[in-house]
Amino acid sequence: MLFRQVYDYIITRLERQVWQADEKLPSIRQLAQELGVNRLTVLKAYQLLKQNGKAYVKEKSGYYICPIDPKQMQDEHPEIHPGSFNGHLKNNLSEIHQVPVIYQFSQALIDPNLLPNLFLSEYVKKVFDIYPKLMGTYSTAQGDEELREHLSQYMVRHHKAQLTSSDLLITTGAQQAIDLISRNYIRPLDAILVERPTYSAALDTFRSYGARFLPVDITPEGYDLEKVEMLMKQYQPRFFYMNPTFHNPTGYTVPSGQRKQLVELAERYQCLLIEDDAFHDMFFDQTPPPPMFTYDTEGWVVYIRSFSKYVAPGLRISAIIGRKAVIAQLTTAKSLADNGTPLVNQKIFLHYFESERMQQHLEKLRIALQIRRDIMEEEVAATGWKWVSPKGGLNLWLKLPDHFPVESFLNECFRQSVSFVPGTICDPLKEMREWIRLSYSFVNEGQLREGIRRLVDIARSMK
Ligand SMILES: Cc1ncc(COP(=O)(O)O)c(C=O)c1O
Repeated sequence: MLFRQVYDYIITRLERQVWQADEKLPSIRQLAQELGVNRLTVLKAYQLLKQNGKAYVKEKSGYYICPIDPKQMQDEHPEIHPGSFNGHLKNNLSEIHQVPVIYQFSQALIDPNLLPNLFLSEYVKKVFDIYPKLMGTYSTAQGDEELREHLSQYMVRHHKAQLTSSDLLITTGAQQAIDLISRNYIRPLDAILVERPTYSAALDTFRSYGARFLPVDITPEGYDLEKVEMLMKQYQPRFFYMNPTFHNPTGYTVPSGQRKQLVELAERYQCLLIEDDAFHDMFFDQTPPPPMFTYDTEGWVVYIRSFSKYVAPGLRISAIIGRKAVIAQLTTAKSLADNGTPLVNQKIFLHYFESERMQQHLEKLRIALQIRRDIMEEEVAATGWKWVSPKGGLNLWLKLPDHFPVESFLNECFRQSVSFVPGTICDPLKEMREWIRLSYSFVNEGQLREGIRRLVDIARSMK
């Protein structure tokens, strides 16, 4: 099937318009030499192009490119959607965050007042006492050995995972992990599986590398696994990016039965699963199912675990866990990006994370977040909007009435100092117009009530 790869290689070039309509394709000899394959392989690929109406033959001259009909492309691949990168980098979420407001419901961040700031500053002092030359050195690109050792043991203890410090890479937040993975795996026009909806900044990162999307709906019951299998089989996507635990923006958690099956599908179709686990410890009543990567024996899961949200967001510490070859490639990407996360941040995080105080803080934090979720739910209850109460995480994902004018609603909210995330930016298809995400974690209880009342009043006035 090597000729199929040559065929795909040519198709990618046609779609990217590296080769234009009516241009002559390289001679069979030339392309065979360039790709290091047999001439017969190239001939078979050219014949298939002709058969599929992508190329035509001119007697005694060679193969030429047929003009592309974009509609025909979409008809041939109805599941695949352009990422629509127009050459300009965009981060929709960050643009919303930049609007200064009092009632901040667009930021899935924890209220700084819920973090033990004084305690943390004692740790800063302690760390400088232990490592007086801390500021004078770089971390290795892979991350501080002591921190990696500690985190790998933590994973072994908590998830019975089999791993050592060399299976981990420290990144500057999960956002950087997503970027490094994209840089490593996505080539322009590659297809990737993404949840619908999903974390919007991940979509914007994938777009910036030229990915095309194969969307898979996420529901409170998880995914339609038959569809996932069909897409993996038909499109051989580079990876499936997923956020299966207290999913952002919906709060849903993929049940454990599906986790095992997904890992089996990943193995069968050789499709990496990128498991982004930013909210694992932010549960309310019950701990979530074990991460997908704990079911993985063959190395098809690349696991991203952010600690930024609830430990010390300013330190921006996250880890990628994966098989050695993956970590080696991503470490190279990391060294190209920034030569390593600042050592100071890693050491402060390490000493804080392993402290007993930290675990007590987490327990209190869960209760505080649950109270805020309840307040938000109470305040939106009278609207008739629909949502599934999240069992963890930081967000409510709400369905407003059909045809609700969400764009003017958002503008009016901004004008009245309230913000939220519109569903369109979380949707790989840029639809989901009547959905919004409200984060209950950032503002205090009093402001939460006031702000949601204001938001609900604005919504009423839109009718
Ligand atoms: C699903 C998901 N992944 C990644 C991130 C980025 O996390 P970090 O702050 O560690 O960069 C977020 C932040 O909201 C998120 O919700």
